[in-house]
Parts: sequence; structure tokens; C-alpha cells
Amino acid sequence: MEKKKFYITTPIYYPSADFHIGHCYTTIIADAIARYKRLSGYDVFFQTGTDEHGQKIEKKALETGVTPKEYVDPIIENAKDLWKKLGISYDYFIRTTDEDHVKRVQEIFKIMYDKGDIYKGEYKGLYCTPCESFWTESQLDENGACPDCHREVHEVKEEAYFFRLSKYQDKLIEYYDKHPDFIQPISRKNEMLNNFIKPGLEDLCVSRTSFKWGIPVTFDKDHVIYVWIDALTNYITSLGYPDENSELFKKYWPADLHLVGKEIVRFHTIIWPCMLMSLGLELPHQVFGHGWLIINGGKISKSLGNYKDPREYIDSYGVDAVRYFALREVPFGNDGNFSEEALISRTNSDLVNTLGNLVNRTIAMSKKYFDSKVENKHVNESIDDSIITYANMLPNLVETKMNSFKVNEALEDIFELLKRCNKYIDDTTPWLLAKDETKLDRLKTVLYNILESIRISAILLRAFIPTTSDRIFKMLNTKNIEFDTLEFGKLENNITLNEAEILFERIDTK
Ligand code: MSP
Repeated sequence: MEKKKFYITTPIYYPSADFHIGHCYTTIIADAIARYKRLSGYDVFFQTGTDEHGQKIEKKALETGVTPKEYVDPIIENAKDLWKKLGISYDYFIRTTDEDHVKRVQEIFKIMYDKGDIYKGEYKGLYCTPCESFWTESQLDENGACPDCHREVHEVKEEAYFFRLSKYQDKLIEYYDKHPDFIQPISRKNEMLNNFIKPGLEDLCVSRTSFKWGIPVTFDKDHVIYVWIDALTNYITSLGYPDENSELFKKYWPADLHLVGKEIVRFHTIIWPCMLMSLGLELPHQVFGHGWLIINGGKISKSLGNYKDPREYIDSYGVDAVRYFALREVPFGNDGNFSEEALISRTNSDLVNTLGNLVNRTIAMSKKYFDSKVENKHVNESIDDSIITYANMLPNLVETKMNSFKVNEALEDIFELLKRCNKYIDDTTPWLLAKDETKLDRLKTVLYNILESIRISAILLRAFIPTTSDRIFKMLNTKNIEFDTLEFGKLENNITLNEAEILFERIDTK
């Protein structure tokens, strides 16, 4: 049977500076979802990339005395290295400076122009350069500045092309109504409807003449295409569109999930769907707007120097500590605080105490009492239900949470099994069983139950902390590591465990 497909994207990031932990946050979550879907049997296409055009990059390059391309190239090399160190399993990395992308964006612009959805007019308005966003007077903040970044906006007046956003207003509302799950979480949908759509959509200025670093309009060379039109189309140009017969496009479009930060939900749920309607294409199934990682209540900012290169955290605490923190700490959708102390405390409490200790002491006991041989003698007692019943329910619990992108809750559910195992050890007291010749078969079963719970947890953790799962599988010496072995009792009888390794070192805070 052909596998079901799942196309997931991150935003394409501005390479205006090296990436920080906030960019890692989005990308790690997308990676965990992509991995989870692959393990569940989907044919996944996971895309990320960089959004390289626009006035902001042009200015940065000019300040540095290099061309925009020369400016961004090393940042992108650096980003790819960071994704590699974080274990980001993307299938495609798109750069908006890629030749194919440039050509396809030009074609898309022309299709919309020929259709009459893009027309020439005069633009008068307020522009925020750092955000690459146009604003109307009424949208500005109380100080007359950009409502997103609160920096100064400036007035621009020029001949420009416009996209008929207004034409699609009613169709867009209708689409929202018919697809109540399109925008997640639901609060963001209401925000879009009430703040942007219902007050009336104005046509969008989609070309600029005031700078050069962008994709030229083929039929009017003074104009470059507005960076958001260029950027949003990345999700289809990578699949070969406008060639609708392209294999990738036929297979993967529409996207199943665009994962984006809350400040760019607007672009993905208003401008992007209207562009797709203009092109006569299907709309993505879901757009999820997540919150921000903040530091001491404020934005992570290069100029404030309030963060380190994410690689420093990986080098100090290990890749899975960083991944686990990003996935576990913040209820998905909300803002959450990032600090090195919080990262350390999360690692110590969950990865060292709950997971690491459990694995270590169970394997050590197996070695001490039975020479590392695993054998289930099926001498069960009612207390075993506390872990066996839960372990058998767990895959479904995780599936439900993952389907609604409650990644942190999925992890909480998995760690609940590990906590139960720790308690089970305290309650069954294997060290006392070991002293009584007649209890040795019971002891074998107790150890089997814990090892089997560890195996099940490690399988479910593969999407989140893959390196750790692999190390656990190696210690368990098991071949049953796939989702179709998620059933209590599949840990092989009569295997011999490998030596216990320390999974996570306790981090000393002093
Ligand atoms: N280039 C656009 C996206 C175009 S997508 C067609 C852009 N780039 S960005 O680099 O500014 O931001 C990319 C993503 O990173 C956004 O989703 C943003 O929310 C996310 N993050 C940037 N800083 C972040 C945090 N501090 N915390 C969480 N996510 C953050 O917007």
C-alpha cells in the first residue's frame, strides 16, 4: 500500500545574522513532528531554508562592504552546520537565491498578472524596513511606530504593482468557516478575523523600486518582487511549481503543516491563501502559530547580546538536552522563557534523574543479579498493572497529543511511564527479592517489566531525542525499535544486555 504523505515546513529564516536559540526552537519542533510522522509510517517531506532578499539584507551587506550574496553565504553555511549538530532531518533546504526558485517566482508573478490579480498602481504608505512590512495609519502602535517591532516606519511613495487581496476576502472567510482547524491555536484565528480580515482587506503592494536586492519582475525590470511574495512561494517552488506535473508537486502539495511563529501567522493565513486561490491551487491543511522563546521577559536579541551561539549549549550539555528543552519546556502555542538555568534544571530533573538513573540502575541490577540476561518468567503481581497497562495505552496517548501538536504533553506522557517505573522499583524492592532464593523468578519478571517499559519509552522518544534512544537500544541489545513493536512483551526473551552507559551527566550549577 502506498504510504500517506506529510509535507511540513518551517518558515524560511532571514539570514541577517547567525541563528539563535529562537530559530532552533521552531526548527526542533518541526523536526520532532517530521520524525514522528516518518516513524508512524508517513512519507514525509520536511522543508526549511532561508529568505535572502529584501532591503534589510541589502543594507547589512552595504554596511559590511560586501554584496548581499557574499553577506548571506557564510550565514547559511553556519545555519546548515547548526541544523546538522541539532540533528535536523530536513529533506530539502531552499534558498530564495536558488536559480530555480527565482525563475519560478517570476513565473508565478506573471501568472497572477495575466489573470488580472496583479495590476499596476501607485503606492503611498508606511513601511517598516526591519519587518519588511507595510502598514496603514490605523495599524500603527500608540507611538505611530511599527505594531510588530515598535521601530520607526517611514513614508514611501512610488509606482508599484498590487495584488488584489480584496477580491479574495469573502472566499477566505468562507474557507476559514469550512475548515475550522486551518489556523491553530484557535485564538490566532480569531485574531486574524477580527483584526485584519473583517475590517477589510486592502490590496497589497507586491513590488518595490526603491532597492535592487530582490527578484526582478520580468516584464518591468525596475521592479523587484515584494519579499513576502518571494518568500511564501518557497513552499511550492521547491516542489517544482508552476510545473503542476512535477512529481514532487503532485505528491506533496498541499502542505499538511506550516509551522510558523505567531508574528507571521498573518502572512501565512491571509496573503498566502489568497495567492493560492489566485493560482487555483489547494490551500495548506494547517498553519500553526507558536509563541516565542523570550529571555527575561524580552526578545532574544543580538544587539542586547543576551544569548550564546546555540552550539555552545550543545557542546556543554549535549544535543538531546537542547532538543528536549525546546520540546518540553513551553506549552506549545505559548511564549516561554529561555535561560541557561532553566535548561540545566530541566536536564537534571528529567533527563538525569528520571530517565538516566532509571536506565542505569535497571541495567546495573540485571547485571548484578542475572549476569545481564533478560528473561520474563511471567510471575506477575497486581502492582505490575501500574506500568503494563499504562505502557500499552501510551502510544495512543502520544498519538493524540502529536496530532494536535501538543509536543510538550506527548513528552510528559512518556515521562510519566518512566516515573512510574522509578516508583515501581521502590515498591517492588528488587534488592530484597534478590536475597530470597524463592523470589528469583519474580525478580526476573520485575526487571523485565522495567526494561520493557524503557524500550517502549525509547521508541516513543526517538522522534524527540533520537541520539539518546539509539544509545538505549544499544544497551538493551534489542532489535525491536519500530512503532509496530509498541506492545508490551516485545522485548526479546533471553537476550543479554550490554554495559550500562551514563546517558546524561548531572550538570553542576555552582
Ligand atoms: N523570513 C520570514 C519568514 C518567511 S516564511 C515564508 C521571517 N524570518 S525570521 O527569521 O524573522 O523568523 C523566522 C521564524 O523564526 C519565525 O517563525 C519566528 O517566529 C521564529 N523566531 C525568531 N525568533 C524567535 C524566538 N525568539 N522564539 C521563537 N521563535 C522565533 O519571519
